[in-house]
Amino acid sequence: MKTKITEMCGIQHPIIQGGMHYVGFAELAAAVSNAGALGIITGLTQGTPEKLANEIARCKDMTDKPFGVNLTFLPSLAAPDYPGMVKAIIEGGVKVVETAGRNPVEVLPHLKDAGIKVIHKCTSVRHALKAQSIGCDAVSVDGFECGGHPGEDDVPNFILLPRAADELEIPFVSSGGMADARSLVASLAMGAEGMNMGTRFIATKEAPVHDNVKQAIVAASELDTRLVMRPLRNTERVLTNDAVERLLEKEKALGKDIKFEDIKDEVAGVYPKIMLEGDMEIGAWSCGMVAGLIHDIPSCEELISKIMAEADAIINTRLSSFS
Ligand SMILES: Cc1cc2nc3c(=O)[nH]c(=O)nc-3n(C[C@H](O)[C@H](O)[C@H](O)COP(=O)(O)O)c2cc1C
Repeated sequence: MKTKITEMCGIQHPIIQGGMHYVGFAELAAAVSNAGALGIITGLTQGTPEKLANEIARCKDMTDKPFGVNLTFLPSLAAPDYPGMVKAIIEGGVKVVETAGRNPVEVLPHLKDAGIKVIHKCTSVRHALKAQSIGCDAVSVDGFECGGHPGEDDVPNFILLPRAADELEIPFVSSGGMADARSLVASLAMGAEGMNMGTRFIATKEAPVHDNVKQAIVAASELDTRLVMRPLRNTERVLTNDAVERLLEKEKALGKDIKFEDIKDEVAGVYPKIMLEGDMEIGAWSCGMVAGLIHDIPSCEELISKIMAEADAIINTRLSSFS
């Protein structure tokens, strides 16, 4: 399938694997790219320019197809070495960068000068327009359903995507709640040039996370996610567990007086324990409502080829039968 996103990224299928903390390692990014979509290494998980450079090199050993790096800008006192990471990305010959968190105005000129395509992930039309105005090549429009940070506007993709299509001139991909061929065809119908998936790619053979995480996604329904940190205006959609329910009790009890320190135990530093060790009750981890549509653990190749074959059938058989 050829779209503005496949052309821009030099990929075969209009599917992107979103950056994911402690999931987006070289193994997953390479498997997704080898299957003809765009795999993405998560820069912040590596933490330093040296480690990121090493992860990019590992990915290149596993694929000769294009892959990207995610740069998430977080509000933090001790900011990571973003300029160093940008340098590692440029020197590593990476062709696509997914930015998120806040607009990438500070790193954009360096990436653009190096010929790198920048796809900014955002949760509202106004942020998408801002990304367009500063020169991003595309945006990834993340609806309220998404795993991770849906922002504070709570607009689901059935509204957000057509709104983006009405306002944007640059291409965009849908993100949040995407799992299969129906997601892809619906996204294309609503004006997107492809789709981005997070949670779906965790439940794949190659995702280098503990099997408990994959099984938790398969076992979960669309009713099993919760929104945490809303009072801190840092809302995150996570899979429920004991720690998440404890966290929500604290939010209820402390109300608007809550501070990050009050919930530190449930959120800070828990990702390695969950993703690598499979300790599923230790804290909150991002997961989309789309878990309700995930019932298997295929290889990335199986997942992506099935999506593309079924998308073709939906377009050429089901949809064309209506006209
Ligand atoms: C476990 C997990 C970790 C994530 N970490 C990041 C991250 O570090 N940076 C980022 O930009 N997005 C992150 N995301 C968001 C994904 O890139 C993607 O936008 C989101 O998962 C899309 O929604 P979906 O899960 O419904 O497919 C994460 C998502 C998950 C599920």
